[in-house]
Amino acid sequence: AAANIPVICIDGPTASGKGTLASRVAAQLGYHYLDSGALYRVTAHAALQAGLTLEAADEAKIADLARQLPVRFEGEQVLLNNVDVTDAIRSEQGGMNASKVSVLPAVREALVALQHSFRRLPGLLADGRDMGTVIFPNAALKVFLTASAAKRAERRHKQLISKGFSANIESLRADLEARDARDMSRSASPLQPAQDALQLDNSSLSIEDSVAQVLDWWQGKSR
Ligand code: DC
Repeated sequence: AAANIPVICIDGPTASGKGTLASRVAAQLGYHYLDSGALYRVTAHAALQAGLTLEAADEAKIADLARQLPVRFEGEQVLLNNVDVTDAIRSEQGGMNASKVSVLPAVREALVALQHSFRRLPGLLADGRDMGTVIFPNAALKVFLTASAAKRAERRHKQLISKGFSANIESLRADLEARDARDMSRSASPLQPAQDALQLDNSSLSIEDSVAQVLDWWQGKSR
């Protein structure tokens, strides 16, 4: 049964490097990868396209969209209804919109089955906010990844500039702190470490160091 398929969860705040870490570890282990944040981003995108607001007044309608989300991942690309929406959803606005719909409990509930469907052999790396606490509570390894706000803003800045987006480091930091505050204070599945999560602060670690740490923990678990 799916419950026996190994899952490694990587949860943490905005721009902590979860995506990079999770996809590298997945590549090393030959596991599947779930970017759960992308599902919230695509849901918000689909809602706006349908002329909905991202507020509680439209919660049921957004949840209906989320339940049958025609989303597909192709490498780095995210397709909605066969249309490439990668750039639109990866923007700062896309992240803020995702954070807004993710507050709505019916929307979160509507995305549960889709997230569970990523649990396939030989295993899964799942990154997000509630992977270890809500979606895969029996995961064998849960990592809570953090980094200072200054460091996260700096990395996000580099990332955006390299993709050709313009960005201001001060406003990025203000935005990510606002998003963290909303993600941590919501009542439905708030961002918080699972009780059995191992904490990893990567403020002064290279990506390779972080990957090595997670692989080391994983080997320790599967011995
Ligand atoms: O990881 P990300 O930046 O792509 O996530 C975008 C937003 O989606 C994040 O601010 C909160 C929400 N989210 C969530 O509520 N639960 C998840 N498992 C992943 C993301």
